[in-house]
Amino acid sequence: MRTPERFLLVIFGGSGDLTSRKLIPSIYSLFRQNLLPDQFGILGLGRKDFNDDSYRRHLRNGIKAVGYRRQEDEEKCNNFLKSVFYHRFDMGKDDDYPGLKKRIEETEKRQHIDGNYMFYLAVPSEYYIPITTNLARHNLHKAPDKDNWRRVIIEKPFGSDLQTAKDLNRHLSGIFNEEQVFRIDHYLGKETVQNILAFRFANGIFEPLWNQNYIHHIEITAAENSGIEDRGGYYDSAGALRDMVQNHLLQIAAIVAMEPPALFNEKAVRDEKMKVFQSFRPLTNEDTRNSVIRGQYIESRVRGKMVKSYRQEKSIPADSMTETFVAVKCYIDNWRWNGVPFFVRTGKRLPARVTEVIVHFKKTPHHLFKMIADNLIIENQLILRIQPDEGILLNFGMKMPGAGFKIKKVGMDFHYSDLAESTIPEAYERLLLDAFAGDNTLYARADAVEESWKIIDPIISAWENDPEIKLYGYPAGTWGPKEARNLFDDPSMDWRYPCKNLTGEETYCEL
Ligand code: BG6
Repeated sequence: MRTPERFLLVIFGGSGDLTSRKLIPSIYSLFRQNLLPDQFGILGLGRKDFNDDSYRRHLRNGIKAVGYRRQEDEEKCNNFLKSVFYHRFDMGKDDDYPGLKKRIEETEKRQHIDGNYMFYLAVPSEYYIPITTNLARHNLHKAPDKDNWRRVIIEKPFGSDLQTAKDLNRHLSGIFNEEQVFRIDHYLGKETVQNILAFRFANGIFEPLWNQNYIHHIEITAAENSGIEDRGGYYDSAGALRDMVQNHLLQIAAIVAMEPPALFNEKAVRDEKMKVFQSFRPLTNEDTRNSVIRGQYIESRVRGKMVKSYRQEKSIPADSMTETFVAVKCYIDNWRWNGVPFFVRTGKRLPARVTEVIVHFKKTPHHLFKMIADNLIIENQLILRIQPDEGILLNFGMKMPGAGFKIKKVGMDFHYSDLAESTIPEAYERLLLDAFAGDNTLYARADAVEESWKIIDPIISAWENDPEIKLYGYPAGTWGPKEARNLFDDPSMDWRYPCKNLTGEETYCEL
């Protein structure tokens, strides 16, 4: 692991929710673990009327609210917050940039940073171009000498289609080199997503099975029980496909499907993922009609409480056609995955918050134990649980003790919670630490972002142009439109309906 050098982090959107809920608590956690350099500075920018002291008080609440570490150590937290500053700033005003430059330089001197700046754009995407243009105009994008660096972290959404992603990449490449640009996808920072790489490439026994000879299909589900909260404006222009599939779920699919890289470095890993994106079979209009199901939640009673429909949510037009659920069947056309469907599904207001990858292995070619009438051929499933109850479950058939050959499905499971010596860090911790250290292995590369939009664009355009493609309503608190099941050619197949607990099934399913 590379150790970060001294740096100044400048956060555009410093008074926003992401900063207080995720960024600062994550950086504090790094500080607590002594993973930051001896000197650093954080300069939050925003329109809110904070000064350094009131900003620190505000952030302290954010750190405490997260509560994912042991009892906060007041002194440690105070020491950390001494390196945090606030500057009132309106990112829409070009005239505010000279003042910002001065404040950056003052903070740099005060904190003994010497030229390493990281800019974090935690702002709505329409500000990415104006902010970076102004950074260049005021010469903040270029380090004074070759021993220093300037980097920029860009939040999602990265474009709203292929063209806008290309435009943004072109704009950024006119200002920064690719190594300076960190396109964040917080799913890549999740410990359990990184573990898919370790699981596949640190073990010898799975790789020989990891292909079309043994795998029947792959299922990737990211279910959320929450609605859109107060993000109506953004969400209605995005929808589930852009919000979750284009980035998080395609990234997971790429990690599941990629070839083993020759080395574990940013180029090798990202090259292999890129090849997966390039191998996705393009969906025609016709494919979209048959292989993509979209839905929108409607009013329903969920565990005794009325839950409004999507169209009744704040800032959502009464006739909105935005999907809050999407299920896609797609194929990766290469030697390894030829003919293996990938079923990808995500939605808001589903029964549980669960993200998992299920590798469904092919059944045995011959049903040896059919002499017992209700013995089914067991389908082996490997479940890589991303959240919650993080872990891995392998389902297989076993003989029930006693007379005859009654086969029962049982599971072998590993839960991260059993690792007493470590807790699962917040995704942003890992990603920020990597960015401070200049490692962008877990960040999305320009070409891969464009390639992933190439998979999504045809679906969007089919939805826009084909009035026959339905938007199905589904009651809040259910698993989405029942039509999602029609994506399976075989009527005996279905999605897995997971519980909050990894091993939970009919007998105990907490949602
Ligand atoms: C974000 C999406 O990127 O990911 C949200 O914009 C979604 O709509 C969130 O709720 C899910 O992230 P997580 O880490 O809670 O699974």
